[in-house]
This record gives sequence, C-alpha cells and structure tokens, in this order.
Amino acid sequence: MSQVLDAMFEKSVEGGEHVIDQGDDGDNFYVIDWGTYDIYVKCEGVGRCVGTYDNRGSFGELALMYNTPRAATIIATSPGAVWGLDRVTFRRIIVKNNAKKRRMYESFIESLPFLKSLELSERLKVVDVIGTKIYKDGEQIIAQGDMADCFFIIESGEVKITMKRKGKQDVDENEAVEITRYTRGQYFGELALVTNKPRAASAFALGTVKCLASSCRIPSIGFLFFVLDSVMDVQAFERLLGPCMEIMKRNIANYEEQLVALFGTNMDIADPSA
Ligand code: CMP
Ligand code: CMP
Repeated sequence: MSQVLDAMFEKSVEGGEHVIDQGDDGDNFYVIDWGTYDIYVKCEGVGRCVGTYDNRGSFGELALMYNTPRAATIIATSPGAVWGLDRVTFRRIIVKNNAKKRRMYESFIESLPFLKSLELSERLKVVDVIGTKIYKDGEQIIAQGDMADCFFIIESGEVKITMKRKGKQDVDENEAVEITRYTRGQYFGELALVTNKPRAASAFALGTVKCLASSCRIPSIGFLFFVLDSVMDVQAFERLLGPCMEIMKRNIANYEEQLVALFGTNMDIADPSA
C-alpha cells in the first residue's frame, strides 16, 4: 500500500482536456478524485460516447495490463483532478497480483456455465477485475431498492434472495418473502446492472459466504482499495460481460415467472418506466 501511495501523483484536469487518447501507448493508470469524464470509442473511424464517469471510478488500466494501445479516449467534461499511477509501478503491483488471482480462480471461472459464451482470454480478464468478499451468517449483501454498483458470483456458501412486494404503502412496511437460494457457481445482482434500475430484491448470507464481487463501491480512500483489490465498475461489467448479457437478459423471464407465481405480478422488474 505504501508503494502505491508513494508512487501516485495528483494531476489537475481542465474541462475539455483529453486525459487519454485512443491508440496511444499507455503511460499511467488514473483514479478519479473529482470531475466528470466522457468515454469515447472509435468504431470504423467514428468516435461514439459509450459512457461517462461522474466523480468516481478509474480508467487506463487496460493498456497497462495487456500491453495494448489505449482502447478509448477519455475527455474531461468539467474541471477536475485525477490520481495517476505510473506504468512500471502499476505493472509491478497489479500484474503480479492478477497472475496470483488467475492461478487461484482460473478453474473455477472456467466451470461457470453463464460465462461459457466468453473466450478463455475474456474469462481470464473477468478474473483480473474481481475481488473476494466474505459475508458472515445473516449479513445483508444486497438491499432491495438500493442503487447497484456490483454483481456477485458465489464461491462458497449459500445466499437467500428475498423480496418485499411493492404496494401502495412504502416497500419497507411489507413483509419480505423468500424467492430463491443460490450456491457455489451461481451469480446474482446482475439484474440492476442490466436494467439500470434499483436492486429488485435483497440478498442475505446463510452461514459464511464467500463471493467473487465486481464492484465500483469505492470508499473514501477508494483508490487504494481499487489498486489493491482491482474491482470492476459498471463500464467494465458491460465491456467484459457484454457477450453474456443475452443469457442474463433471458434469465429475466425466469425471474418474472417466479414473481408471478409468488405475488401474482411480475413486479415490473424489467420495465424501465416502473
Ligand atoms: P485503456 O485502454 O488503458 O485507456 C482507455 C480506458 O478507458 C481503458 O483503459 C478503460 O479503463 C476505459 N474504458 C471505459 N469504458 C471502456 C470501453 N467501453 N472500452 C474500452 N475502454 C474503456
Ligand atoms: P439485482 O436486482 O441487481 O439485485 C437483487 C438480485 O436478486 C437480482 O439482481 C437477481 O440477481 C436476484 N434475483 C433472484 N430471483 C429474482 C427474481 N425473481 N426477481 C428479481 N431478482 C431476482
């Protein structure tokens, strides 16, 4: 941690400044201190805005991790500041850490049916951006109604999914109903990321649960956690799991069937206007 801290430098950014240009060699990895930034990716010569960062997140890891040209252009849309970490330090710490994670999780990730539509190299990239989280018996992993910032794959233990019926009164006043349970190799928490809606249900640990979590839940000294834990933000989720998105979307129909059986309504879980 002290090596990372010593190596990080603050850089002020002006509105309109290109922090990164697609196609360039990678020099630094950046963690946003403040400011807003657009992400442009060129397709057949035309740049298209594919996402934004709003006062949090990080970028510039791909070129450093995989020795490739910059995959996107990052343009500040307001004044701001970022923390930079140079290529040599980034590679020494992150790439070494990723190699260790790959050794630990390679066979587990390969066994997951929902990642089958990814190439091996793509699956390994998923490993690079996940961290491990351990939950105690009874601990809440997801709260219904919260904004989503990560999804989970269960490495060990059991997770209970519950849902409160949306009614005329506040959701909080309604009794939670158990919908399903998940164990090793299954995933949850993807729905809100796919639909861009709040969490549709809550998740609780039954016994000790170990999850692989992708996350942009960055605490106040988040950049350190990011650098050391290599967590996945919403942009990385979409970029890396894009080929699995169809499988995930198809699963929404199963959720809706479950909800109709339990509550007599599909709870509008996938309706963007609800
Ligand atoms: P890098 O390729 O080093 O530089 C551009 C960065 O933009 C890239 O790393 C990612 O961190 C970030 N980025 C965000 N969204 C995308 C995207 N859809 N495709 C490629 N890079 C992206
Ligand atoms: P998300 O809405 O992000 O957070 C709660 C998670 O519970 C949800 O993603 C799904 O992964 C999971 N879940 C399991 N069964 C259902 C269901 N019937 N309806 C909605 N979510 C479900």
